[in-house]
Order: sequence, then C-alpha cells, then structure tokens
Amino acid sequence: MNITEQHEFINNIIRPAWIEIDLDAVAQNVRNIKQYLGGVQYLAVVKADGYGLGAVETAQVILENGADRLGVVMLDEAIQLRRAGITAPILNMGNIRADQAYYVPEYGLEQIVFRPDVAKALSHAAGAKSSIAQIHVKIDTGMSRYGVRYDKAAAFIESIINLPNLEIIGAMTHFPKSDAIDKSFALLQIERMLAIKKALVNKGITIPLWHTANSGATLDLPAAHFDMVRVGLMNYGYFPSSDVRRPFTLHPAMSVKARIININRIRRGDSVGYGRRFIAEKDETIAVLPMGYSDGYSRKLSQVGQVLIKGRRIPIVGGLCMDAFFIKITDHPDIQEGDIATLMGIDGDEEISPHDIARLAGSVSYEVISCFGKRLPRVHIRNGKIVKIKNYLLS
Ligand SMILES: Cc1ncc(COP(=O)(O)O)c(C=O)c1O
Repeated sequence: MNITEQHEFINNIIRPAWIEIDLDAVAQNVRNIKQYLGGVQYLAVVKADGYGLGAVETAQVILENGADRLGVVMLDEAIQLRRAGITAPILNMGNIRADQAYYVPEYGLEQIVFRPDVAKALSHAAGAKSSIAQIHVKIDTGMSRYGVRYDKAAAFIESIINLPNLEIIGAMTHFPKSDAIDKSFALLQIERMLAIKKALVNKGITIPLWHTANSGATLDLPAAHFDMVRVGLMNYGYFPSSDVRRPFTLHPAMSVKARIININRIRRGDSVGYGRRFIAEKDETIAVLPMGYSDGYSRKLSQVGQVLIKGRRIPIVGGLCMDAFFIKITDHPDIQEGDIATLMGIDGDEEISPHDIARLAGSVSYEVISCFGKRLPRVHIRNGKIVKIKNYLLS
C-alpha cells in the first residue's frame, strides 16, 4: 500500500478519530529493555488490552523481539491470547476461584496461587488432564491486594509443595511504590522476599523463578530483578515517572488523533459547550474535534488541555462533551476542516505525552493510555506501513 492509499485507508475510518500504534516502536523498546536486562528473564505485561494498544498485536511483536513470557490479570485475557495463536508461556497474575481451575491446564497457562483451595483445585484439574499445573506463589509484602502475607508465605509453600500435578515454578510480589525517589518501602519488600527465600532453602525447597520488579524497579532497583522482571508500561514507550533513571531510550508507541469536523465563527459574548464555560470576549474561531470524555479523554482537560495541529499547540476551550470538544483556532487561519489534530503524540517539534495529560487530569500515564475507549479504532503500523485497522465496534 503506498502513502496515498494509506491515507485513504485512514480516511475511511468512519468517525474520524483513531489511535495509531507504532509496532516498530514497541519492537525497539523491547529490544532495548532486553539488552539492558542481560540474562534476567523478561515477562511482558499485556493486560488491559496491552495497556490500550492491543494485546494480541503488541504481544506478537513483544515476543518476536525477545520477551520470554506474557503476563495478564484474568483468564479471559489469557484465553484471548491463546485463541489468537500465541503459544508462549502466559502467567495469569490475577486471582481465580477454585471452580475456575479447569481453565489453567485447558489453555496451558501459568497461574498465581495464594490460597490452599485454589492450589488443590489446580492440582486436581491438572491431574484430570494428565498434565502439571505450573504455579507462581503470590506473596503480599506490602500491597495488600493479592497474595499470602509474607510472614505466612514459607509455611504456605511448604503446605502445598507436595500436591500432585502441581509445580511451583515461581514466587513473586509486587511493589506499590518503586518509581518514586524514596525506595525505602520497596527495599523492605525485597528484604521480606529474601527472608522467605532463605527460609525455604533451609528446608531444601528451591523455586526457580523469583520475580518482583515492575518498570520502576527494573530501572532503579537491580536488587529486585531476581530471576525475572515483569515490565508493562515501558514496552509501550513510556517511563513510569519522571523520578526514575533512564538507562536506555524508549519510543512512545501510541498516538491519538482526530480530524476537525466543524468550524464555527463565533461573536463576542457567544458561549461554547455545556455549562457555557467559555464565553468569547471577542470574535473567535472555534473548531470541533470528534472525541469526548466517553472515549477516555478526560473532562478535566476542559479549558486547560491542548492539541497539536501542523506542529503548533492549540488550546482546548469550553467543557468537553461526551463525544466532542472544542479548540480555539482564531490565530491560525490556515487550519481547516479535515485537518488532523494530535491529542497525544508527536507533531513536528511538539509532543503531548501521557504524562502531560495525566498532570492536567490529576491522573497517571497508565490510566491515560489504558482508558482510551473502544470506540476509537486502533491503527497498527509496522515498518512504516498500516498493517491493520481494528474497529472494535464493527468487528
Ligand atoms: C503484578 C504486576 N506486575 C507487573 C506489572 C507491570 O507494571 P509496570 O507497568 O509498571 O511495568 C503490573 C502492572 O501493574 C502488575 O500488576
């Protein structure tokens, strides 16, 4: 497909608002992370539809470029990947009920375990399929979400280690605070894991994969690398915060775009949008972009956000609607209906990052990228060419 045909393709997106996913950027990010890790294993977290970039599409590229394993947080996500033909190891890092154990051997998954009933059910389900359930014991060292509490972890592992058809291949925990300057709590969590490891070794129990590190700890806490890291956000091109080290380059993979669909020339005293939050003090030119808060574009950007058009920063005015918002283009007479606005991403020398949006929306970059809605088609680009347009509503 040549460039003109590619543009035609994007033009044919019915509602002119979409997300571009640069799979070449994902590939390069994964190679950079892999090189930095040396011999440490690499689990790539592709939960929440690959943080909004498309789980199947990103997982394929991530695996091709050196990740060893995928991580999701629910059986449905794991099954989606298997149905797409992905055969790599997949760890379900989310909780399951005992009556759901059947799915684990059925789809050849690895599963976190922190409750005896689930361990027994997995042992039973694997036995029924003449297979072995590979599990990672989830240890709660300070997140208070999932896991067996750290002071009970060694005893729990001892209590399930001899269950038939069950193999404990991993022991893991998660950091609530690894990308801030203060690492004291993360260091305490590492100590807790090391104490458990030592207690088990003293009892002759060895577990091959100890893993704790998310993106922040992968960057800043080499002591947290153990045998494997679990990297999510960085695969997609974003550092987790501005406080972490940046030992390699990351390339942002997600751009959010929309075309101007209407232009209104308003007079002094006219108002814009719900709540009449913008009242013109002079004659103004207002353009309408077809995206709103129901698309995951925060209403908190009303009056304070910006978009990029032709490499220039253009202010958002008025309140965001559910499906549309307004920009003031009075000083840019060359901007016309049909022009493309970049809501997140790079245009010329300017960039709006998920961190920039998060700052204005009182959020975090994770929420910004993963909450763009399913009404926005994902346009996947590889080797500089569009390889797929996924329209969730029409597929
Ligand atoms: C258990 C677990 N491990 C690893 C990650 C990856 O974290 P990050 O995206 O900061 O790399 C997550 C994501 O929240 C997670 O829930």
